[in-house]
Amino acid sequence: MKRLEMTEDEKVIKDPVHGYIYVHDPIIWNLMNTKEMQRLRRIRQLGAAYLAYPGGDHSRFAHSLGVYEVIRQIIGAFARNNYEWPHEYDRLTLIAGLLHDVGHAPFSHSLERFMTMRHEKWSVMVVRDPTTEVHEVLESVSPGFSELVAEVIEKTFPVPLIVAMVSGQLDADRLDYLMRDSVATGVDYGTFDLARIIRVMEPRKDRLVVRDSGIHTVEAYLLARYFMYWQVYFHPVSRAGEILLHTVLTRARQLVEKNELSALTPPALLAFLRGDVTLGDYLSLDDATLFAAFTVWRVSGDSILADLASRFLDRRLLKEVAWPKNRDSHLSAVQQLVKEVGYDPNYYCIVDETGTVYYDYYLGSDLVPTHENAIWLYRKSDDRLTEVSSVSRPIQAIAADHHPVRRLYVPREVFREARFQRLLEDEANGGR
Ligand code: NI
Repeated sequence: MKRLEMTEDEKVIKDPVHGYIYVHDPIIWNLMNTKEMQRLRRIRQLGAAYLAYPGGDHSRFAHSLGVYEVIRQIIGAFARNNYEWPHEYDRLTLIAGLLHDVGHAPFSHSLERFMTMRHEKWSVMVVRDPTTEVHEVLESVSPGFSELVAEVIEKTFPVPLIVAMVSGQLDADRLDYLMRDSVATGVDYGTFDLARIIRVMEPRKDRLVVRDSGIHTVEAYLLARYFMYWQVYFHPVSRAGEILLHTVLTRARQLVEKNELSALTPPALLAFLRGDVTLGDYLSLDDATLFAAFTVWRVSGDSILADLASRFLDRRLLKEVAWPKNRDSHLSAVQQLVKEVGYDPNYYCIVDETGTVYYDYYLGSDLVPTHENAIWLYRKSDDRLTEVSSVSRPIQAIAADHHPVRRLYVPREVFREARFQRLLEDEANGGR
């Protein structure tokens, strides 16, 4: 492969979240220029959320650079404050942050449901596999260096501080994507004071902690995360896009199994759908591959596949209605209705349940938050660590809220049916 030899020059990349991203290390510059990293330019960070927020089509590449930059700023602040930080791992930490998403699937999380392996596993595979450019650059640092990077990404690296910087409750990954997704979509209350979070972060023994004066900054960060889930990640239209992606691919997979899928489908996607994808195939898949396939499929002889693909391309999404569990007794009636309106309920009548834990520290049986998951406040006067939700009402409220969102998605025509409206009204009045 071609290797860019860098001089002493600092490289500067303009970025909407951090202003500038600074690169001094030629190894990092070379990694950014590998084909595996460049592929991330062709993968949307937010999957189908651009169908709800037109600005939300920023790439995983921009996010990966952002994670690198957040880590660079944090360890820079640690160095200026003379905190006890293992600076011999600086390069390793920066690189693990840069590469943590290198194995991401097209449209981010939408395709993961089709895979037996999560994107983190693909990321470490890209790092370890001797045929990748990423691996070649990493091994040029020193033989075995790629293995260390893989260990940080899969959280088995023996220095917990380094792992926490890349994946934890208050890690560089989340700090970047929350800000970036918020800036890109225009959802203003998803932003928080990143510069101040970096200022109040401190390494204490094995943990990344926050000085107690930073409690409101942490509250703002967790609230921002909460808002981003509701306003962007769980937005009914974002979810409608994800559902459609999933049903298009489900239909395509069924046709592949019967050897009925168009021969014009990109070969790597065919392999993916058959479930026998190699690393090479996988890395040749990106959002563009899927768009190309959808363009082929929309004129396919299979009317369901053709309709689903057209719907995704033309943004004719299914429409949602809140669907709490007690409505499930009406589900077969709705399926029947969908059929009568002319659609196969297997693809056009979908119950979507999604949810997360907004602050996911784990309370063990002795009610002690586990170390790796909690956010800890540090009080210097008596050298004390306190788990943040124990002193913050807003964070308690956020941590306690993990009810899932449940919605039913059907074609718009179904909403025009009086029987469907009656069913919803009945339910609203508590009757049957
Ligand atoms: Ni990430």
